[in-house]
Amino acid sequence: MNISDLDTNLVGKTHTAQGDIRLVNDDGFTWLPDQSIDLVLTDPPFNIARDTNFHTYEGNTINSYRFDAEKGWDSYTPDEFKDLLKRWTVEFERVLRPGGSFAIFCADEYLSDLISALKDAKLKPRRTLTWRKPNAVPVNRKHMMMSACEYIVLGVKGSKAVFNADIDFNEEPEITVQEVIAISDKASTIIDLEIRKALDKLDTRPSASRIKEIVNNAIAEVATAAAERSINIYSEDEGSAQLCVPNFVNFNSKAGNRLHPTEKPVNLLRYLIELLSKPDDVLLDPFAGSSSLGEAAVISKRSAILVERDKEFYEKGSKRIETLLSSQAQSLFE
Ligand SMILES: C[S@@+](CC[C@H](N)C(=O)[O-])C[C@H]1O[C@@H](n2cnc3c(N)ncnc32)[C@H](O)[C@@H]1O
Repeated sequence: MNISDLDTNLVGKTHTAQGDIRLVNDDGFTWLPDQSIDLVLTDPPFNIARDTNFHTYEGNTINSYRFDAEKGWDSYTPDEFKDLLKRWTVEFERVLRPGGSFAIFCADEYLSDLISALKDAKLKPRRTLTWRKPNAVPVNRKHMMMSACEYIVLGVKGSKAVFNADIDFNEEPEITVQEVIAISDKASTIIDLEIRKALDKLDTRPSASRIKEIVNNAIAEVATAAAERSINIYSEDEGSAQLCVPNFVNFNSKAGNRLHPTEKPVNLLRYLIELLSKPDDVLLDPFAGSSSLGEAAVISKRSAILVERDKEFYEKGSKRIETLLSSQAQSLFE
């Protein structure tokens, strides 16, 4: 389906049409026809707003804000929220075309409810992607780990979904102290094992030069294993690039001036768009916030329908897309 085919469905709605992006100020999308969408990519309310002053300690994490302040979109009871998940997923299934995909952000405490709701709606959740935020701000709290990840449930309606395994968008991972320790621990275990195996084969005590040889061989063993793994993940050689697409990604969360308290980084959205859809496909974000998905869609050359019920966010989103499109048009003349 073409985005302009959907314009008649927007008649009478508060909306703006900008290039291939349609922004709608509404709290639902019952007006969208069945099977009209190629990818639902959305970041709904997480229902984890807290009445505490956590926000003063956890900049840059999903616990950073009472997201909705007085707006009331992130303060349902758990049962109300589970019920909403069911209603949303039924609607996602209705508007997705067969073979269309979805990617839905979710807090860890509701992952199993979202996955069950998707299955009940006859969609197929396939993987949960962990989004690691290298720039999450560490907090000096002794009673709980910092919150440095979010989760995205990916899946399809039916089969034969688009999956562009060879895109490579991940931002450079920042290796943490814990990971360095885990990797060195693993490497030293392999080295130790190789040394023991070699020593076990000897009848007499080895000479110093023999020990050096054994240790060097053991280290070479680790180096080969590490190189093979890295080639599989990072090499551009044909046949080896992206042999596997990992179920985690690293993207810095949006820092500094935000249009929305839970604004998603455009590069993460572009990664998901380009992994799960084709150019000119029609995307839907029914919880659009500041229209980050609109910006990502413009850059990745997709069409998008963005629905946001809060007038202030809807207007900020419209301005954002207008500014982006006019700066793109401007650069054509420079
Ligand atoms: C988690 S935020 C999305 C933020 C967005 N990803 C961004 O980058 O700016 C969820 C948004 O959904 C909106 N919302 C909540 N319930 C809605 C509904 N029923 N229909 C449309 N929008 C809704 C809220 O106003 C909020 O802006």
